Amino acid sequence: MAAIPLLGSYKMGKFDLSHRIVLAPLTRSRSYGNVPQPHAAVYYSQRATDGGLLITEATGVSDTAQGYPDTPGVWTREQVEAWKPIVDAVHAKGGVFFCQLWHVGRVSNTGYQPNGQDPISSTDKQVPTQVLHDGSIEEYSRPRRLRTEEIPRIVEDFRLAARNAIEAGFDGVEIHGANGYLIEQFMKDSANDRTDEYGGSLENRCRFALEVVEAVVGEIGADRVGMRLSPFLDYMDCWDSDPEALALYMVQALNKHGILYCHMIEPRMAVVNGRYHIPHRLLPMRKAFKGTFIVAGGYDRDEGNKVVDEGYTDLVAFGRLFLANPDLPKRFELNAAVNKYDRTTFYTSDPVVGYTDYPFMENSV
Ligand SMILES: Cc1cc2nc3c(=O)[nH]c(=O)nc-3n(C[C@H](O)[C@H](O)[C@H](O)COP(=O)(O)O)c2cc1C
Repeated sequence: MAAIPLLGSYKMGKFDLSHRIVLAPLTRSRSYGNVPQPHAAVYYSQRATDGGLLITEATGVSDTAQGYPDTPGVWTREQVEAWKPIVDAVHAKGGVFFCQLWHVGRVSNTGYQPNGQDPISSTDKQVPTQVLHDGSIEEYSRPRRLRTEEIPRIVEDFRLAARNAIEAGFDGVEIHGANGYLIEQFMKDSANDRTDEYGGSLENRCRFALEVVEAVVGEIGADRVGMRLSPFLDYMDCWDSDPEALALYMVQALNKHGILYCHMIEPRMAVVNGRYHIPHRLLPMRKAFKGTFIVAGGYDRDEGNKVVDEGYTDLVAFGRLFLANPDLPKRFELNAAVNKYDRTTFYTSDPVVGYTDYPFMENSV
């Protein structure tokens, strides 16, 4: 018997996980020129454990996929070669490592796009100006609505990126269908105003997402494919009028493809009696999905233990806590205090500060 539910072993397809604590995908903006750097090997291997699942930061599938400074890609030979030692460093510690495949769609501006062209999307509706966590203001360009006949090319980019990720040594990929990026821009009715077969009905809005799934599964096998979804969020002006119907439709379609896992983000936390509470709205999807279920969004040790114990999920992904605590599984095991995260260095470009210098437990007393 494991000491706590989060430390129980779990068999995810062919992967023998030794615990339930997953590193959530975390953009860190330290991949200069979209090429992963040697310091990422330090960062990820610090967070790797024997039999622990790590998911990379969102990783671009093509030269139109970026919308943030210095995020990594996996579409060029140079990027694939650069990932190899990073993946090796995680494997050397026994970690299981998935690459999150990403296209930002309209969450971009002409400055990030090849030849200064307009970002592409499901729509030509622009994302309103956003005030980011650090108070900075981000402006997005008006996107260009993809023509129907252009969509297979984007699907193909995901397929090739999945192949590249496997070539780089990753154990699998996570298709980023969350947080208001391209795949969600197609899925959600606030951002999809198309009149072709990719717009309108739920089936049509999910068509692009499922074509990506089918292509990636065909390329690398369903047993190496996960998908991240955030049906209840409205991040980047992307929301749906019936999020539960959308999520259930997707989960049932993912079952048909037999993918390894579904990684779902909770609705935004609500304040109840002065305390943040996780809404726990994912149970219908957890029940409907046949593969491994991963939840994320506001979890800590107690909440994580509770949901694993109750069978509400198989695995729990931790974002900010894992960012700030490279030895998070160990701390959870010992019920030790955790380092606080420093929001001001989430996306700064220093290869050490706020990245690989969060103290391990032995050094932090
Ligand atoms: C610095 C930072 C970067 C993030 N980058 C990504 C990303 O690249 N891909 C993604 O799907 N989610 C990303 N997220 C969302 C996290 O994966 C996670 O869902 C969110 O932080 C909520 O979990 P938490 O409460 O455990 O931090 C990011 C969050 C943070 C704080």
